[in-house]
Amino acid sequence: MNPPAHYDDLDADLAHAWAMLARGVADRRSAFRTPTLGTIGVVGSPQVRTVVLRGCDVGRRTLRFHTDLRSGKVAELQLRPLAALHFYDAGQKLQLRIAGTTQLHHDDDDVARAAWAASQAMSRACYTQDVAPGRPIERASAIPQAAGVPDGATTGFDNFVAVVVAVHSIEWLYLGSQGHRRARFTWDGDQVQATWLAP
Ligand SMILES: Cc1cc2nc3c(=O)[nH]c(=O)nc-3n(C[C@H](O)[C@H](O)[C@H](O)COP(=O)(O)O)c2cc1C
Repeated sequence: MNPPAHYDDLDADLAHAWAMLARGVADRRSAFRTPTLGTIGVVGSPQVRTVVLRGCDVGRRTLRFHTDLRSGKVAELQLRPLAALHFYDAGQKLQLRIAGTTQLHHDDDDVARAAWAASQAMSRACYTQDVAPGRPIERASAIPQAAGVPDGATTGFDNFVAVVVAVHSIEWLYLGSQGHRRARFTWDGDQVQATWLAP
């Protein structure tokens, strides 16, 4: 298989990475749809879990996902607003490792309201359960499937958080039969520093 056109071009690699992130938001079937989110646990241990990528603003260099205010990850991000996002597309043989700082948008906040309004009724339903996620329950079936929250309704909005990740660095790794390629992009303000790394 031939390597992609952007194989040996740092600028094109970066543009392709952002294009894939944007596709992850738009395309349910994209491998970039469901990154692994890494945070620092409250006692300092690493924590990872899958989230759905809900937003990508290439101009602002931000990514967004949604979660429950009562979740462990929110407590962790309140303590240390640092996130790592890991993406791997087996078809493209491409891994992205992204590091950034997080802002939690909740309650009376335009970002949270817009994100809530743009969510599907079934996605909003996740935030309506009384018992905080991660709490022990008596029976597996103790929490019934919640009904969808229709457009315009705010049931569950109190528990809803839109997390915006300001991207500080992207590490790009392509595994190619003609040789692997690895690059790092870091930002200082709007200035990007790009370098190849030994793979
Ligand atoms: C495919 C998939 C998508 C998920 N998307 C989200 C998500 O967008 N937001 C979220 O809070 N949890 C999501 N989860 C659940 C998390 O992986 C995790 O189990 C849960 O949020 C609790 O994590 P925490 O205790 O570290 O906060 C998803 C899980 C899977 C398997």
